[in-house]
Amino acid sequence: MTPTPLIIDCDPGVDDAVALLTAFGTPTLDLLAITTVGGNVPVAKTARNARILRQIAGREDVPVFTGAERPLRRDPMGAGEFHGAEGLGDMAPFEPAVGCAPDGAVEAIIETVMARPEKTVSLAVLGPLTNLAQALRAEPGLAERLGPVAVMGGARSEGGNITASAEFNIWADPEAAAEVLASACDVVLFGLDVTHQVRATEGRIVALEALGTEPARAAASMMRFSQRVERETVGWEAPPIHDLCPVAWMIRPELFTLRPCHIAVETMSDLTRGHTAVEFRDGVAGPLRHRWADRVDADGVFALLAEAVR
Ligand code: BDR
Ligand code: CA
Repeated sequence: MTPTPLIIDCDPGVDDAVALLTAFGTPTLDLLAITTVGGNVPVAKTARNARILRQIAGREDVPVFTGAERPLRRDPMGAGEFHGAEGLGDMAPFEPAVGCAPDGAVEAIIETVMARPEKTVSLAVLGPLTNLAQALRAEPGLAERLGPVAVMGGARSEGGNITASAEFNIWADPEAAAEVLASACDVVLFGLDVTHQVRATEGRIVALEALGTEPARAAASMMRFSQRVERETVGWEAPPIHDLCPVAWMIRPELFTLRPCHIAVETMSDLTRGHTAVEFRDGVAGPLRHRWADRVDADGVFALLAEAVR
């Protein structure tokens, strides 16, 4: 089987960290680049954290690029309360042996995708969509050339997690999300409706801890941190590992049920900023050119994680 060429754009972040460790340990993914963005914590920290995780996984062959410090128009708003001040939960950060690649994230996305045949490079976006929106502005041919763009973002039946109607990644940079969804990109959105089905139960954490490898310990430590925070702040026993979903879909798409739809993002109202309007009726809001993740085999997703960090 030919590995899937993939760029991961992210803001680690404890659930980004679990997703990255999964991707680093999966041989059916051909990881071309990790690009980072300011989101959960500022971009200097997300770029460092991506390099820490790369080092833990022994994957210094994958370049890490630094991207946007701030959203297109909004003030940066972190989510440190859900990820720890450094973005890696209880893990003490360290300066990784290898630095960032010299180019910026936007150039890296454009150059990597445009240098390869049409539709062959996929993109997983695990943070605010600022880097991709900037890349689409800078290279008008990018949207047509990209393969599937799997985004963790959005909220519908479950309601929001940052406001009543909005999920963090879309809320943090709604203009960027709106531009990406209005572009010709083939976007699959993994919103809270599906990520809330992918929870780190006690049994799943214990199973990871039992594996004993460094990547497994790191992934389990992120989950233990989230377990504590979600218990204290939301009252949930088992935290959702949101960002694992787009990466798992890249590895085994058959684990997910997707529904064709048309998605637009609210940018005008303060009250509903970042709301994702997901329309399943053809032609009502526009053609059904997006896909919304609806159901998932969560055991299958955690099996991919375990296999990757074993
Ligand atoms: C998303 O927001 C971030 O805090 C997480 O890393 C995830 O990407 C969930 O709403
Ligand atoms: Ca994230």
